[in-house]
Amino acid sequence: MRSEGGRFIPHSMRISFITLFPEMVQQALNHSIMARAQEAGILEIDCITPREFAEDRHKKVDDRSYGGGPGMVMMPHMIQKAVDSLPEPKPLILLTDPAGELFTQSHALEFSQHDHIAIICGHYEGIDERVRTQIADRSFTIGDFVLTGGELPALIMTDAISRLIPGVLGDPQSHQDDSHTDGLLGFPLYTTPREFDGEPVPDVLLSGNHAEIDKWRRKQQLERTKRHRPDLFCQAELQPGDADLL
Ligand SMILES: C[S@@+](CC[C@H](N)C(=O)[O-])C[C@H]1O[C@@H](n2cnc3c(N)ncnc32)[C@H](O)[C@@H]1O
Repeated sequence: MRSEGGRFIPHSMRISFITLFPEMVQQALNHSIMARAQEAGILEIDCITPREFAEDRHKKVDDRSYGGGPGMVMMPHMIQKAVDSLPEPKPLILLTDPAGELFTQSHALEFSQHDHIAIICGHYEGIDERVRTQIADRSFTIGDFVLTGGELPALIMTDAISRLIPGVLGDPQSHQDDSHTDGLLGFPLYTTPREFDGEPVPDVLLSGNHAEIDKWRRKQQLERTKRHRPDLFCQAELQPGDADLL
């Protein structure tokens, strides 16, 4: 967040989707927190479709795979033209790719500090490899499974990035307690009713003793991470006193 004459000016971020299905993107971002961030001018979303740069009368954007195999592959030159149409200074160009690096919360935090990023969405059988080698700066998967297109991964990345831009969430503390922020899973949350189907809210959360509540929450984070995500637990930076809680 920048400060001007003592007033805090939230930084605004633009995310450009390079996609054959712009309606899919726009509709998904037209609700709730993402819609409010756009109305407040903190987040700007736009879509560029490679089809508008196709030169033949059928507006062809894909072709068969060299070497054979099923399905159609998106061609690189329309994607290059879509990227070239973006204004200077050029944004960071991300590619959605099941063979890319795993997208994590720390990438979301890193990219939320950019003014402009663009995300290329593949579709059909995939995208010509030269988009990865020549056009994209980095390529990311959202997990070890394959979807029909890159629009959902790009939307997921956009949501994760945007909620970290200062001013998007009402209370900045919200994301500091989230799972994956400090390498651990989040603690369990409870609201009314005090008892649901025989299961009560833990007494400590009703005690008003904030030191005890913090200790209970930290213990829950450590135990949950150790049990459900030992891979994360081995890498987590533990704090003094954590060992006593386990
Ligand atoms: C059917 S997939 C292509 C799969 C490709 N043939 C492969 O084996 O890696 C079509 C497009 O969806 C997107 N996609 C699918 N699964 C994804 C994932 N897990 N993470 C990121 N992007 C994904 C990518 O943009 C990809 O080019």
